[in-house]
Amino acid sequence: MSSAILSAVAWPYANGPRHIGHVSGFGVPSDVFSRYQRMAGKDVLMVSGTDEHGTPISVQADSEGVSVRELADKYNRVIVEDMHGLGLAYDLFTRTTTRNHYRVTQDIFTSLFRNGYVQAKSQQSAISPSTGRTLPDRYIEGTCPICGADGARGDQCDTCGNQLDPADLINPRSKVNGETPLFVDSEQFFLDLPAFSEALGTWLQTRTDWRPNVLKFSANLLGELRPRAITRDLDWGVPIPLDGWRDQPMKRLYVWFDAVIGYLSASVEWAARTGEPDAWQRWWCDPEARSYYFMGKDNIVFHSVIWPAMLLGHNGQGDRGGEPGPFGTLNLPTEVVSSEYLTMSGSKFSTSRQQVIYVGDFLAEFGPDALRYFIAAAGPETQDSDFTWDEFVRRTNFELANEWGNLVNRSISMAHRNVGAVPTPGTLTAADSALLATATAAYATVGEQLGRARFRAALGEAMRVAAAANKYLSDQEPWKLKDDPVRRDTVLHTALQVVQDTNTLLTPFMPHAAQKVHEALGGTGVWAAQPEVRTVSEEGGPDYPVLMGDYAQQQAVWRSTPIEVGRRLSKPEPLFAKLDPSLGETGPSWAPLA
Ligand code: MF3
Ligand code: ZN
Repeated sequence: MSSAILSAVAWPYANGPRHIGHVSGFGVPSDVFSRYQRMAGKDVLMVSGTDEHGTPISVQADSEGVSVRELADKYNRVIVEDMHGLGLAYDLFTRTTTRNHYRVTQDIFTSLFRNGYVQAKSQQSAISPSTGRTLPDRYIEGTCPICGADGARGDQCDTCGNQLDPADLINPRSKVNGETPLFVDSEQFFLDLPAFSEALGTWLQTRTDWRPNVLKFSANLLGELRPRAITRDLDWGVPIPLDGWRDQPMKRLYVWFDAVIGYLSASVEWAARTGEPDAWQRWWCDPEARSYYFMGKDNIVFHSVIWPAMLLGHNGQGDRGGEPGPFGTLNLPTEVVSSEYLTMSGSKFSTSRQQVIYVGDFLAEFGPDALRYFIAAAGPETQDSDFTWDEFVRRTNFELANEWGNLVNRSISMAHRNVGAVPTPGTLTAADSALLATATAAYATVGEQLGRARFRAALGEAMRVAAAANKYLSDQEPWKLKDDPVRRDTVLHTALQVVQDTNTLLTPFMPHAAQKVHEALGGTGVWAAQPEVRTVSEEGGPDYPVLMGDYAQQQAVWRSTPIEVGRRLSKPEPLFAKLDPSLGETGPSWAPLA
């Protein structure tokens, strides 16, 4: 049985800094999952990067008055810094404007074309009558032709989730200035989705462990499959690799077509950078390898229908048959893990209305642990959830500081003060054994939940161990055992052992704090490895920053290890600073008023 696990994390658009809603959907969940899997001995490959094509980028470049490339360079850097600050342990976080990505994308297109799954045909394409310029799909709105909802976008209806063509909208109008778009004929390539409906249906029926909302949503989409345009009248994107098309200045592959291929191209780039160019195959071509895709709910269709269809087409596994393309027979997703939305004090995050909390600002003031904790404990895992400063302060003060931080602090302080080192235990009482058993048993329960991407439940189980240890200390009152040092040392030893276990259980959630607790317990070296920003380039190309990391060097493993008697302890620093409760009412000065 292969132990290979691909963590495929949604690619953030490089059109601005990311806000905490973004990272609660894809970033933190995928990192908690991947860190757990690495600790459990799995061979994890976690890849992503910035999504740098398409209209989101050109529109923002226009509004900042810079070129698309300058814009993409600027926000690629910002996003790399944000992901680094959060401690997201990517094996490779790259970008979609690399030569490697262009090559892999064009190879996939060519395979689909050869196998007969893409065809050129004429389509109505929207232009703005006042400017004569192409109007991007998502800047057209109207009534959905499928469900009748108003406010559907040219690319997608958020009410029924269907993919749309702008020409099919009823009463289409431009979001930019309200005018009715002009539709002109334009030649585009289409992906023949109906040719995959049977193969997709068969595959989806085997996907029983997905979150029910994702499964039901995806199954529904199969009834509505129509050919989808995978090219656009744009000058920013991957050129179409066919004679007569490749040099056309206003024809490019559609941003979603190239973005999902990023998972594969990033794996290929990672393998090349590690000096084993074929190593990506262990995650993509071994049918036993597993792949988990992490994203917000508006991305589901691309991961549960379109990307699987592209993979089937490359493999020659749709209705028209065919031969596998240059990458061999590629695996379909094992699981599509989708989050719902994080709102802020009851309303949607909105960059244009300044109703937004940026990751960078948040990290600068509070560091990564409290945010990661909040997202895992109260994030939008299976339903929309709300961020409020009040709730953030409450969780930080009462759960992190009072429950976990306090347990670490008083256990280590008492052992330091009384013994100066990890004490030698005497005979265990029933209470000692019961607490140790609770901690040991949690590896299975927490691990089971983490393996199924049930983060909130997993964190709850881990925090229950901390609560049990606090109760144990209150019951045993080691501070009253001056006259019975053997019993005192037994209690302190038991408490320290459980602090170490709880720290192991919490490591996937809060790797930075876990490193500090490891050191406070007298440990040395790397407990939880962190990503590094590295500067790389491709032959003849410009430098760019990536995130990579040496995660194999870390000591954290998913099992209980006995704490070493006699290890020197020093006086611990408080693990989590308590926040001023008034912050709960107002939020920090840089944040929008809730
Ligand atoms: N850039 C897209 C977004 O922010 C996500 C792309 S995910 C990928 O919604 F699959 F295309 F990579
Ligand atoms: Zn609809």
